Amino acid sequence: MERILVTGGAGYVGAVLVDHLLNKKYNVTVVDRLIYENGHTMINYFKNPHFTFVKGDIRDETLMKKLTDNCECVIHLAAIVGFPACEKAQDLARSTNLEATKMISRLLSKNQPIIFASTGSNYGVVDGICTEETPLNPLSLYGKTKTEAEKWLLEHNNTVIFRFATAFGLSPRMRLDLLINDFVYEAVINKYLIMFEKHFKRTFIHVDDMACSFIFALENLDKMKGEVFNVGDSSNNFNKEDIALMIKKKVEYYLHFADIGEDKDKRNYEVCYDKINALGYKACISVEEGIDQMVRAIPVLEHHNNYRNV
Ligand SMILES: NC(=O)c1ccc[n+]([C@@H]2O[C@H](COP(=O)([O-])OP(=O)(O)OC[C@H]3O[C@@H](n4cnc5c(N)ncnc54)[C@H](O)[C@@H]3O)[C@@H](O)[C@H]2O)c1
Repeated sequence: MERILVTGGAGYVGAVLVDHLLNKKYNVTVVDRLIYENGHTMINYFKNPHFTFVKGDIRDETLMKKLTDNCECVIHLAAIVGFPACEKAQDLARSTNLEATKMISRLLSKNQPIIFASTGSNYGVVDGICTEETPLNPLSLYGKTKTEAEKWLLEHNNTVIFRFATAFGLSPRMRLDLLINDFVYEAVINKYLIMFEKHFKRTFIHVDDMACSFIFALENLDKMKGEVFNVGDSSNNFNKEDIALMIKKKVEYYLHFADIGEDKDKRNYEVCYDKINALGYKACISVEEGIDQMVRAIPVLEHHNNYRNV
């Protein structure tokens, strides 16, 4: 597999992934509508002749036919991401996350695998530890569209489904609506953090480890196709209070625990990563290392905060 089409490649995950793909000498085409950025996240990649950028909408079938005809594998990231963004634009979320995924799926042959970025939000409320066999019970529109898209791809395509932990860390297209990134930003810039549901257990993955998981899938497609994998690391399972206290060791700020506020996806679970670890993939970057990186970088980001998906 040499020619890779990355949908949503200008986004938080994509902008990091493209760097990893180009370093590994893949030919990369990104298609992205640039909802949040003007494309500057991609600027550096234009120096590489193996990089092509197409500003376009994955819901445009004519465009996607042309792009899928010219690729050997699709890494499908484009989506309306997170429950707040999906609730705000519900029709857009359905047409992007589900209908466009089905349309892309129909354009692909069995020789063209599709690696799909799904989410642990699909599990909903779970007692105990989530494995890939845990029944899905998505609560938000975001989780529902991702769950249906997964199911469709597993039934119709040569696919690898990745259910990712919540990402953290630095990307050229920064997202500060992600839990750890948000907490570090509040602590560093505003010097206070108000937290609800402090005992909720969450699971995290550094955005560079996400990128490495896609490379791992490209290199191990035969072993992985037709399968679903949780992607993260059990050493990065923490509750929200743990994260706030970890940040407190590095930044002086006021921390307040509130009784109101809720996560619509009710993410409060531990996730097991044995299945992907058994194949040889290991997410290596700790939450602590990611916090250190952001503590250094966040002061240079703009103080008025444009980096949330709402
Ligand atoms: N970041 C996380 O914590 C996380 C966790 C689990 C899964 N994921 C999944 O990973 C993928 C990437 O997430 P992200 O954090 O980079 O989000 P993001 O919002 O930063 O990136 C999504 C990109 O898709 C593009 N896009 C949206 N609709 C489009 C359309 N119709 N046509 C073309 N481009 C379009 C946007 O412009 C954006 O650049 C998503 O599918 C998401 O569900 C992310």
